[in-house]
Amino acid sequence: SRTVTRNEDGVLTVGGLTATALAEEFGTPAYFLDEADFRARCRAWAEAFGEEADVFYAGKAFLSRAVVRWLKEEGLNLDVCSGGELTTALEAGMPPERIAFHGNNKSAYEIERAVESGVGRIVLDSFQEIARVAHAAQSLGRRQKVQIRVTVGVEAHTHEFIATAHEDQKFGIALAGGQAAEAVRRALKLDGLELIGIHSHIGSQIFDTSGFEVAAHRVVGLLKEVRDEHGVELPEIDLGGGLGIAYTSDDDPREPHEIAKALRDIVTRECEAAGLRTPRISVEPGRAIVGPTAFTLYEVGTVKPLAGLRTYVSVDGGMSDNIRTALYDAEYSVALVSRTSDAEPVLSRVVGKHCESGDIVVKDAFLPADVAPGDLIAVPATGAYCRSMASNYNHALRPPVVAVRDGEARVIVRRETEEDLLRLDVG
Ligand code: LLP
Repeated sequence: SRTVTRNEDGVLTVGGLTATALAEEFGTPAYFLDEADFRARCRAWAEAFGEEADVFYAGKAFLSRAVVRWLKEEGLNLDVCSGGELTTALEAGMPPERIAFHGNNKSAYEIERAVESGVGRIVLDSFQEIARVAHAAQSLGRRQKVQIRVTVGVEAHTHEFIATAHEDQKFGIALAGGQAAEAVRRALKLDGLELIGIHSHIGSQIFDTSGFEVAAHRVVGLLKEVRDEHGVELPEIDLGGGLGIAYTSDDDPREPHEIAKALRDIVTRECEAAGLRTPRISVEPGRAIVGPTAFTLYEVGTVKPLAGLRTYVSVDGGMSDNIRTALYDAEYSVALVSRTSDAEPVLSRVVGKHCESGDIVVKDAFLPADVAPGDLIAVPATGAYCRSMASNYNHALRPPVVAVRDGEARVIVRRETEEDLLRLDVG
């Protein structure tokens, strides 16, 4: 991120604070998040999409009260996918009408709470849910704004576990076989629901705009069917999140304005051709906003050079603070940040302290041959899906998130303590 540099001693600095000073003050492992960068990315998305579109930050990437306040101040909306995320959003003062509620199996409690608190939209993911939300809204005497999430049948070029628009997965209602059209029919009939649009999310860590274009094309196709059958022009379409970021120098991400232009162009063109009013577009970037804004700082504990293979560098965290490498074969880079070194770079694997061999943070990286216990190393681009997917495996204590701004560092999520763990253990 922009305020992260090296000082004259080769020590990483963020917002003017050195990695060594940060480690001393906050301990390791810890995530350091550049608030100015986060806000700048929010603004870039808001500006790229302009007045005729809405940007919903996907809270699953990383959510805390401070994040909610930043989003609110920068004019973004928020996508939540659980009662927990909804509570955090409301607690931190996000106006409910700026919240979208997602999930493929929302509980009765979550549905009731979402309707009751007045969220701006609930994204319906199944036929059962269409009935459940309508029922909850009617019992509360409300008319709930909803979108229907459809599966557009696009193969997003990403890891299988994070691709969501091919047919054989759990999300959404298929366009194929008239399923989505049937869902629209049902939703339009129910008094408790105000159907405002169609939603599609094709997957994550995508570098190519073509998948979004195909999705937009198919969603507009459904809008046209709906108009022809019901005489209703649905006013919104949401094209989800999924824009990739650079984890390593091999990645070449698209910028928000590129994706905004591609989506606007195709939606406008196709709607004009179909004689439809152009709907309001919304998107839900998570990773592209928060991912690049944070890095994880670790301290090296042991170093094992395995002759003819590689050097194993063990750090004081691991799969409990970054599960992405183990789960998706995700690639990261890593750097020695507490000093410079002229030692020869050697093939290294950064591993954690957990009791399994798949506990890998960075699979293949070159680190100086003299990396030693006590050195600090940093893994960039860990703002998304790292703290939010962190676990207590082996009773690890989840690391803090420290926001850095104008040369000041402030804990926004504190480090877990052993008391926190024991508090839940009531046996
Ligand atoms: N909207 C919906 C409906 C989603 O399901 C997601 C992500 C997003 C937006 C945000 O996607 P993003 O812009 O952050 O790619 N844990 C995985 C990613 C799972 C994403 C799930 N849904 C990872 O670490 O890569």
